[in-house]
Amino acid sequence: MSGSAAPLRVYELIQKKRDGGALTEGEIRRLIEGFVREEVPEAQVAAFLMAVYFRGMSDAETAALTLAMVDSGERMDLRAVRGPTVDKHSTGGVGDKTSPVVVPLAASAGVRVTKLSGRGLGHTGGTLDKLEAIPGFRTQLSPEALVAQVNRVGCAIAGQSARLVPADKRLYALRDVTATVESVPLIASSVMSKKLAAGSEAIVLDVKAGRGAFMKTPDAARALAGAMVGIGRAAGRHTVAVVSAMEEPLGWAVGNALEVEEALKTLRGAGPSDLRDLCLTLGAHMVVLGRAATDERAARTLVEERLSSGAALRTFRDMVEAQGGDPDVADDPGKLPRAKVQAPVRAAIDGTVLAIDAEAVGQAAMVLGAGRARAEDRVDPAAGLVLERKVGDRVERGRTLAVLHTSDPGLVEEGARRVAAAYRIGAGTPPKPALVQGIVT
Ligand code: URA
Repeated sequence: MSGSAAPLRVYELIQKKRDGGALTEGEIRRLIEGFVREEVPEAQVAAFLMAVYFRGMSDAETAALTLAMVDSGERMDLRAVRGPTVDKHSTGGVGDKTSPVVVPLAASAGVRVTKLSGRGLGHTGGTLDKLEAIPGFRTQLSPEALVAQVNRVGCAIAGQSARLVPADKRLYALRDVTATVESVPLIASSVMSKKLAAGSEAIVLDVKAGRGAFMKTPDAARALAGAMVGIGRAAGRHTVAVVSAMEEPLGWAVGNALEVEEALKTLRGAGPSDLRDLCLTLGAHMVVLGRAATDERAARTLVEERLSSGAALRTFRDMVEAQGGDPDVADDPGKLPRAKVQAPVRAAIDGTVLAIDAEAVGQAAMVLGAGRARAEDRVDPAAGLVLERKVGDRVERGRTLAVLHTSDPGLVEEGARRVAAAYRIGAGTPPKPALVQGIVT
């Protein structure tokens, strides 16, 4: 009797995982198919997710789960793209505006980038919300328009169609309400199913580690990076993961238009050094995987030249114009929305900034209007904050730590309280973790 013809006994499958057993590829596939077809009830899938949360999954199980999720929907067909396609993904952080820099940077170095991005939720921002701060910028592109644009300007950043990986949407919603989000195999399969369905030949992942990230420690981030790279390998896609620090926010700005402005500064060579360094590292890996340079050193030289020559900024402008946005923002950030209210948060004591809790800063930006507590909330493109002091900086009592931006003066008090609480100021020299904490290949 063939295994696939036997009835699916979900109860036994949950029991096996609960007791630490390994599921077969066929069992995982039939569970996901049954869930998407609404033949397996949510209660059983929720129990399965909790069993995975506690027992984990082997590499083979995680790959099987990911591929079953990919097969739940359509895949992007990038065969008409001329040139090597490389995707980039961040596991999410605070002030993480690498995509608007790295995507045009890699494209200007000869790599083709079709980047499907998401929206912000909770304390982390989303690339689509950031780019939509540019007047007129469209993030809904048909697959044909996306491919045509990538052939014309080298890159595109757009929203993901609901037809890609519907299993992830349903599983994520269930994880969200059953306290099963923070699981390495579940996060890895969720991220990688979307990357595999998006169709690029190679993938560069930025896996964040620290207070502002899903993974709070470098070890946990390395475990997630290893799981995702393993899935990429099992699916025949070259995948590299950069593990990067997310203790304090990346760069200075947090909030949609404010982050676009900082990304543009970086493309002009004047951005904050941590953001610039991370973008060059990610860009160099994309260039190697896209075969536009033979090794990392040559790739680094190439992306540095593309940044300093203004080539990456020109590609950004072309991408904005192709997606209906006002290309003049590239030279004139005054065209971006600006908040009516700008209020400083000042230091209460003298000392050194010992830590800035990135998650708390992200939540403060959300309170000011930059993010959403629920998926249906609207964001204020102009809202957010700009840090003026970062870890290791000296401050005197009364010195501005950060400037809040909001359209609603009634939000300033809570925003200021949260930002002040996010700063730890005292005596001594704080440890500053390396920005790039490891590369997993
Ligand atoms: N991002 C995703 O796409 N999925 C997760 O599970 C976590 C972060």
